[in-house]
Amino acid sequence: MQGDAHESEQKSAPDPSRDLAYSIRCNELVRSLQRYRMPSQTSVQPRTVAVFNGPNLNLLGVREPEKYGLRPLSEIEQACRDVAAPFEVSIDFRQTNHEGVLIDWIQEVRENISGLVLNPAALTHSSVALMDALATVPVKVVVVHLTNIHRREPFRATDYPAKVSHGVIAGLGVGSYTAAVRYLAEDTD
Ligand code: DQA
Repeated sequence: MQGDAHESEQKSAPDPSRDLAYSIRCNELVRSLQRYRMPSQTSVQPRTVAVFNGPNLNLLGVREPEKYGLRPLSEIEQACRDVAAPFEVSIDFRQTNHEGVLIDWIQEVRENISGLVLNPAALTHSSVALMDALATVPVKVVVVHLTNIHRREPFRATDYPAKVSHGVIAGLGVGSYTAAVRYLAEDTD
């Protein structure tokens, strides 16, 4: 009886130094788990490159095919996805005929993308509002054109978005898009 009482007294006796050591070990464990998880969390974050297209590009394939080629926009989209896939980069591909919609989209995605490829189409030559929206994008923006705008009518040589962009690729047809997507997909800065 006595022995039992002594044993249970020993078990329940508070030992502040043991509790403290235990809580220190727990804190160390939590900190090392946090350190361990951080790199893998960063590396599994899916990266997205947005590919936005301006007015009339929905008509590719039927619109002035001698200049813009016969391939529809859906084929350009597929080509972008094919280039991005090996890098585990997803593509957010959109087209609009409306300047304000394009600006809204840029504002919507600007904090969540790792790069932006933009064919502003005719807005290239007129839209200061689009240029201002692009200037707020914190990641690299590559402006693309299917045609070489510098070999065409003089008014097409004015490229407002290019003034605030990281780079411009013009004249390579669908290759302008795929080169831009590959560049941004490879870029991990
Ligand atoms: C374009 C060139 C622009 O001048 C034109 O208005 C377009 C397409 C191109 O991809 O070559 O719509 O951006």
